[in-house]
Amino acid sequence: MLARRRKVVEMSEDPLLGTEALCATHPGRPIVLQDVSVDMRRGVRVAILGANGSGKTTLLRCLSGSLKPVSGCVRRLGAELRHDRRALREHRRAVQLVLQDPDDQLFSADVTQDVSFGPMNMGLPVDEVRDRVDRALTLLGADHLAERATHQLSYGERKRVAVAGAVAMMPDLLLLDEPTAGLDPAGVVQMMAALDRLREAGTTVAMATHDVDLALEWADEALVVVDHRVVQGPVDELLADADLIGRAHLELPWPLALARRLELPGRPRNLDEVVGLLGGRRPEVAG
Ligand SMILES: Nc1ncnc2c1ncn2[C@@H]1O[C@H](COP(=O)(O)OP(=O)(O)OP(=O)(O)O)[C@@H](O)[C@H]1O
Ligand SMILES: [Mg+2]
Repeated sequence: MLARRRKVVEMSEDPLLGTEALCATHPGRPIVLQDVSVDMRRGVRVAILGANGSGKTTLLRCLSGSLKPVSGCVRRLGAELRHDRRALREHRRAVQLVLQDPDDQLFSADVTQDVSFGPMNMGLPVDEVRDRVDRALTLLGADHLAERATHQLSYGERKRVAVAGAVAMMPDLLLLDEPTAGLDPAGVVQMMAALDRLREAGTTVAMATHDVDLALEWADEALVVVDHRVVQGPVDELLADADLIGRAHLELPWPLALARRLELPGRPRNLDEVVGLLGGRRPEVAG
């Protein structure tokens, strides 16, 4: 189903994107995020986890430049993000945020028009726009939807078209807010296969999700939002930390919960790895 094994992660000097001592909130609301310093490096898959209302979308909005921090800053390739129009326009070419609800993102009559919107707005030549749209739809496994009216698409199709619109901007980093929420199992597989193709094509992806099992299998690193702060680390390490998971009001992913219950060594990420650990264990014969 998903890519099975971790790949050796390439480390670049400056993170693609990060925050430094970032504090953020919304008008008239108490603080949501406090003193958050995280980074996202090229090629590293990042899952952002946390309870409802913990601040995942708030963090994504700060990272995308659509929400200005109260203090601290966002840094892209080491440089502090300014919030003037020109700097934000440049930032959005490099960092694209796809919202949770595709209906907040899709507004053109048909799919091709919608996916073309960003590249057209950049003033690119028509041929290049067409190439980008074709490529984005192919990566998302959505070529067959090109001529369709957006309002006639299923929810899962709309979600993939919304991601295609961001991909057509050819960002360095794609931020996805709950890309699998509301999808059936086949829809989740399609979305994750699309993310694998994007990664192979060189796009770094970070996603907010409630799905700890998916995060464990897919991601390299996790950002766990807990008590207004964000803890960053290897996904299997953080998701095996029962104290952190409890404080974040999440649950242990099933492979880790099962490994713990059966006292298996290691931190399996999926069914195959659980079976591997079980197969390697000498069964105890009673009597
Ligand atoms: N536009 C807004 N105006 C006022 N308050 C907001 C706004 N957006 C979010 N909030 C508040 O900020 C806090 C964090 O919300 P946020 O949407 O970032 O959480 P989340 O982790 O993404 O939650 P969910 O899992 O439900 O998507 C919540 O208390 C929420 O009510
Ligand atoms: Mg959210």
